[in-house]
Amino acid sequence: MKKVIFILSLICCVACSKKNCDNTAIPDEPFRPAYHFSPPQNWCNDPNGMVYYAGEYHLFYQHNPKGSKWGNMSWGHAVFTDLATWEHLPVALLPDSLGDIFSGCAVVDELNTAGFQQGDEKTLLAFYTYNKNGVGQSQALAYSTDKGRTWTKYAQNPVIAAPSGKPDFRDPKVFWYAPENKWIMVLAVNQVIEFYSSKNAKDWIFESEFGTNYGCHDAVWECPDLFEIPLEGEQKGAWVLLVNNSRNGDNSGSATQYFVGNFDGKKFVCEQPAENTTALWLDYGKDHYAMVTWANAPDNRRIGLAWMSNWEYANDTPTENFRSAMSVPRELTLVNKNGKYLLKNYPVKEIENFRGETSDFSDIKIAENHIIKNLPSSGIYEILLNFEKQNAHSFGFLLKNNKDEKVTLMLDFEQNKFTTDRTKSGIVDFNEHFPAVTVAPFTTKNAYQLHVLVDRCSVEAFLDSGKVAMTNLVFPNKPYSEIEFFGDNIKVNNLKINKIQ
Ligand code: FRU
Repeated sequence: MKKVIFILSLICCVACSKKNCDNTAIPDEPFRPAYHFSPPQNWCNDPNGMVYYAGEYHLFYQHNPKGSKWGNMSWGHAVFTDLATWEHLPVALLPDSLGDIFSGCAVVDELNTAGFQQGDEKTLLAFYTYNKNGVGQSQALAYSTDKGRTWTKYAQNPVIAAPSGKPDFRDPKVFWYAPENKWIMVLAVNQVIEFYSSKNAKDWIFESEFGTNYGCHDAVWECPDLFEIPLEGEQKGAWVLLVNNSRNGDNSGSATQYFVGNFDGKKFVCEQPAENTTALWLDYGKDHYAMVTWANAPDNRRIGLAWMSNWEYANDTPTENFRSAMSVPRELTLVNKNGKYLLKNYPVKEIENFRGETSDFSDIKIAENHIIKNLPSSGIYEILLNFEKQNAHSFGFLLKNNKDEKVTLMLDFEQNKFTTDRTKSGIVDFNEHFPAVTVAPFTTKNAYQLHVLVDRCSVEAFLDSGKVAMTNLVFPNKPYSEIEFFGDNIKVNNLKINKIQ
């Protein structure tokens, strides 16, 4: 595990009790992820305020500074310099008389449109939702003139008041729309997305809405994101709208869907047909939610991060001092194959910085079960392999320990289904929704590449550089120490198991 710097003295935030904050180091407790971001202590959910500025990727996150279950919603804060290591910073935004601080975003006010800039340092603007019982949800602004270290809430908040008849009115994602010199705010409202614009980040005008009859409407829409992204191998780009769906999705529970189309500064027009059946999912596991992307990432990269949990059981997962972690940062790329869009998501290359000792296996022919023992005892590793299907009906492997706990990844070439089965993965009985087999469709062909990231409480699988992604939590009583391949007549090439440190 690379060094996670912990700034002890700063972690104690204004409203945080001594008891909750008196940490000397992040405890090396069971299921504490090694290379996935988790809060130093207490609860976390959605990534918030993701913005790159002055060499730092800021990550704010939904946080309860007073306990390890959801509540007292505030913005926790950390910065990554390299997308692979991070430094925890004090809690940035705490609840006040206008309400709790729900999800939102941050941007760099390059042109000082809001007028908060002092000196040369650009101002960071944060947009978030106030949630207040009896009042509803409103949008608010805060700013920082010291590289995100301290935040001042705008005195005339809220910038968009709580409307009547719209109980779910939240999670602003704002970006600068250069062709018209204005900010665009994308907001999740019940089960549609609303677009607003502003010249000064304070006065907002409603522009349009999108979503009726599009995608999955099993539950409330949350945490949207909208960005233009180049199409791989083509000159032109397209606009992608990410929409997180609270308690639904083909794999049941919280999941991220996306739409591809065009945005003209006022309106998003989707290129997919408006049918309920056409939801496109970014990740088919049960533990990928609230994915949004970093504003201003260098080199035009579009990098996202998801909360690795699910509202079905997020409050019950078997950890104590902290609860929940984030996925690894993932690079998003858009491809268009025969008129069909696919948004790939794949771990950023900086993850390789974690790589330790490699066990390199030469090609293996899997005609029957093939076991590799002695996986890194830490339970923290990655598996990389290419394989050729030949005449096989299925192929896969189990990660298992000597307590008869296992997680099974399998590709069924007859049904074109890629599955992760965690029903016997370890501690599963803390919530009835946790034991699950998650399923993703995939295209049958001859050769595949598979990349699996294993940390102390997660298994993230990526097929063909992120064409299919599947993220699942697991809570084994002992790390999985063996890999058992199965399949009929499969050729595995370039199998590598890298320790992660
Ligand atoms: C998504 C969400 C957001 C909300 C936040 C509250 O997980 O429900 O819509 O702002 O969590 O913590």
